Amino acid sequence: MTNAVAQLESNVRSYCRAFPTVFTRASGSTLTDVQGRHYLDFFSGAGTLNYGHNHPVLKQRLLDYIASDGLVHGLDMATEAKQAFMETFDRLILQPRRLRYRMQFTGPTGANAVEAALKVVRNVTGRSTVIAFTKAFHGVTLGALAATASAHYRNAGGLAPAGTAFLPYDGYLGPGIDTTEYLDRLLQDTGSGLDHPAAVIVETIQGEGGVNVAGYKWLQSLERVCRRHGVLLIVDDIQSGCGRTGPFFSFEEAGIVPDVVTLSKSLSGYGLPFSLVLMKPELDGWKPGEHNGTFRGHNLAFVTARAALEEYWQDDELTRDVGRKSRVLRARLQEVADDDPASRCSVRGRGLMLGLDCGNGELAGRICSQAFESGLIIEKSGADGRVVKCLSPLTISEDELAAGLNILTTCATRAFAEVAVECHDVVGAAR
Ligand SMILES: Cc1ncc(COP(=O)(O)O)c(C=O)c1O
Repeated sequence: MTNAVAQLESNVRSYCRAFPTVFTRASGSTLTDVQGRHYLDFFSGAGTLNYGHNHPVLKQRLLDYIASDGLVHGLDMATEAKQAFMETFDRLILQPRRLRYRMQFTGPTGANAVEAALKVVRNVTGRSTVIAFTKAFHGVTLGALAATASAHYRNAGGLAPAGTAFLPYDGYLGPGIDTTEYLDRLLQDTGSGLDHPAAVIVETIQGEGGVNVAGYKWLQSLERVCRRHGVLLIVDDIQSGCGRTGPFFSFEEAGIVPDVVTLSKSLSGYGLPFSLVLMKPELDGWKPGEHNGTFRGHNLAFVTARAALEEYWQDDELTRDVGRKSRVLRARLQEVADDDPASRCSVRGRGLMLGLDCGNGELAGRICSQAFESGLIIEKSGADGRVVKCLSPLTISEDELAAGLNILTTCATRAFAEVAVECHDVVGAAR
């Protein structure tokens, strides 16, 4: 087979560089390539496959729907599949959590949901500034990009990103400093230079930004500051939602109620592109079709998303299972960190969104590429790529989790030793 990807695909391609093989099939937590090699998945399509690849129950529902000539495409016309998803989402997710939200189906990417959320808060308040946080990632279309912190993405926008002010995220200025107090102060002071914002947009755990965790107290304080100053609160739950941290929404345990929530990635449950904005009913000031898009609420995704809710969200079994696996994962990652002779490593995250901060991108990159060679797919995150991010499917078996962790541990130990030898050689040569 010619390497069409290397020859014909734009330079913008990225994951095919990190995982240089050609994949053919995938099932549960395993991918297979053209050579018949199997890879354990600690990546899950960057959090899109919380229930694994080709989940049999979801697949059957999809096949049945296609076989029955169910509507595949319908713009945002009412369909049985859409109605059934909405009723199920309301019954299994919103009502038990006493949440009252209107649902807006946007274009299928997470970035488009963020674009819509930003328009909602700006249009309803009549203000243009939105507060985003250091290390935030909200997507790469222009509005979402303006709320994304990384220069790597911002520099590629072609226009100066506008309409956003960045504030330090929880922990950015060190453990003792509550950065929500700083926001409170800025908002009280008409001389602060900060235009009164429409909203704050926040990830409860910054996935792309390096698995930075916002503490519950910080989130509660952020919500209070927003309420005090009439600023809306958007939680971008695109990566950390749909059970990734345990509960369906990542903000549940903090007890906060955002005004707007964005969901995407694992919402369809099957890897089908699908995005949703939840907004408090009083914020729904849209005129018909103002934020449109050809692929709003794709019917195949409605079918699998509903199946995923029925399969996993009728009770709290999945949430408890994530908690159990999280404890195993954290303990093993901590062992890896403790084994680092140079003490560069630390562990952070929540649920099955945990990261090993290696202190530098070189070491993290070495661990990830050796893991790939050894049959484990795992990616780095953070502006300098120094965090090895573990995002296995939530449904991974205990044996698979242990097998993946064995690979990770071996690769980390080898990388620590290689780096130590190289440092020794450099020091020796310098003498
Ligand atoms: C928190 C968050 N928001 C938004 C996005 C953008 O989603 P998409 O890549 O589907 O546009 C991502 C993608 O990684 C994300 O992690």
